[in-house]
Amino acid sequence: MSTTASGLARALLLAALAGCSSGAPVETPGSAPFGFGRSASAEEIARADVDVRFDGVGLPAGSGRAQEGAVLYRARCAACHGGSLEGNPQLGVRPLVGDVRHAVNNLPFAPPLFGYIRRAMPLDAPGGLSDDEVYALVAFLLERAGVRAAGERPLDAGSLAAVEMPNRTRFFVTDGVEVAVPEIAPEAATP
Ligand code: HEC
Repeated sequence: MSTTASGLARALLLAALAGCSSGAPVETPGSAPFGFGRSASAEEIARADVDVRFDGVGLPAGSGRAQEGAVLYRARCAACHGGSLEGNPQLGVRPLVGDVRHAVNNLPFAPPLFGYIRRAMPLDAPGGLSDDEVYALVAFLLERAGVRAAGERPLDAGSLAAVEMPNRTRFFVTDGVEVAVPEIAPEAATP
C-alpha cells in the first residue's frame, strides 16, 4: 500500500514537473492551479443554486398563469420540444405530455418540475428564466397534461406543492431512496 502511495506521489511530481517544463501559462498558481478556467461569478452560482424539494420546500415566491406559459413555451421551448409538446426524435427529445414516460407521468411530485426547468431549461440558455416565467411554464405543462384544469388560478409555491401527480401512488420507496414506476395509469397516458 505504501508502495502504491509513493508511486502515486512520484507520478504526481513528474506530472507537475512536466507541466512546468511545457511552458504552460501559470500566472496565478494560487487562484488558477491548472492554468485554465475561472471562478464562477456570484450571479452564475445563484442561477444554478436552485434546490426545490419534492414537498415544495425551496420553491421561491412568485406565480404564473398557463396562458403566459403557452406564449413563453412557443418562444423559448417549442423549437426543441415541438409545437404541441410532441418532442423531436431527431434531437433525442421525448414528448413532454402524451407519452407513457413523459415528464409529468415520470414524477410522483410536481415541485421538482419547477426546479428542473428553472435550473436546466431552456437547454441553450439554462437558468435564464425568471421565477414567474417558470411558474407560468409549469402551469402550462400541467394544464396540457390534464393535471390542472384550464383557467385555474395562477400557479405559486402553495398550489404547486398541493398538485396531485397522476402517478403519485405508483411510485414506492425501496431499501434506499430509489423510486420506481411499476406501471403507468392508462388515463395519464393521454394528453
Ligand atoms: C435547445 C433545445 C431545448 C430547448 C430550447 C428546451 N429544451 Fe427542454 N429538453 C431538451 C433536451 C435535449 C432534454 C432532455 C431530453 C428529454 O428528456 O427529452 C430536455 C428535457 C426537458 C424536460 C424533462 C423531460 C422529461 O421527460 O423528463 C423538461 C420538463 C423540459 N425540457 C422543459 C423545457 C422548457 C419548459 C423549455 C422552455 C423554457 C425547454 N425545455 C427548452 C432540449 C431543449
